[in-house]
Amino acid sequence: MSGSAGEQSDWKIIDRTEEMARKTLRLGVLISGDGSNLQALIDAIEQRELPGVEIALVVSNRADAYGIQRALKHRIPVIYLPWQKRSALPSTGNSMSTSEAKLTALLHLFQIDLIACAGWMRIFTPAFVSQFPRRLINLHPALLPDDGIGDIFTTSDGTVIPVFRGLHVVRQALEAGVKVTGSTLHYVTPEVDAGPVICRAEVAIEPGDTEESLHERIKQVEHKLIVKGIRISF
Ligand code: GRF
Repeated sequence: MSGSAGEQSDWKIIDRTEEMARKTLRLGVLISGDGSNLQALIDAIEQRELPGVEIALVVSNRADAYGIQRALKHRIPVIYLPWQKRSALPSTGNSMSTSEAKLTALLHLFQIDLIACAGWMRIFTPAFVSQFPRRLINLHPALLPDDGIGDIFTTSDGTVIPVFRGLHVVRQALEAGVKVTGSTLHYVTPEVDAGPVICRAEVAIEPGDTEESLHERIKQVEHKLIVKGIRISF
């Protein structure tokens, strides 16, 4: 290339300093099924609603999880990791299961900063959880109190309802006859569904709701909640 002073150069120096200084969050998403919340994250990133966030890895404990197809379609690295049955877990001591050790290795290999359980249906041992303080978050389809602890929750209209934890919490809310339930994004702690809350949203229970119809409406709310929560935890 030649050119005298004042002549316009064909070469432009592109200053990427600002771009490179921008923080990047490598997100790992753990799924077990449909992956509609994973899809919400993919869409939010594509629509530039989560600047600096990259889904660097998706892990599914089920080979037939539809979320795997969603990840593949968007060329996101996805791994099927068969999960050891709970009965095979060590009953004493503070050790991880073999599956958890494999997951830990994957999370390190892919340099994951934040791990989001989005429809992940497996419980972790305290040994696994303690590796990721404030870096492991979970979407729970019911309302949890701010600190995650306790058995009652006060809704925005002042109604006191029970806290639903564990499996089938949408069904539990219907069976309890409460008028409001919702979803909570929280940090994972060794106690199941009991970590500090990142954000939360209420969903009204309609007359005639079934577990399916109610869960579908909860999921619609979750799709916004998980995006908001990732922004907060960044
Ligand atoms: C969500 O309702 C989440 O709260 C719960 O499992 C469901 C997963 O949905 N833990 P999807 O797989 O993201 O569609």
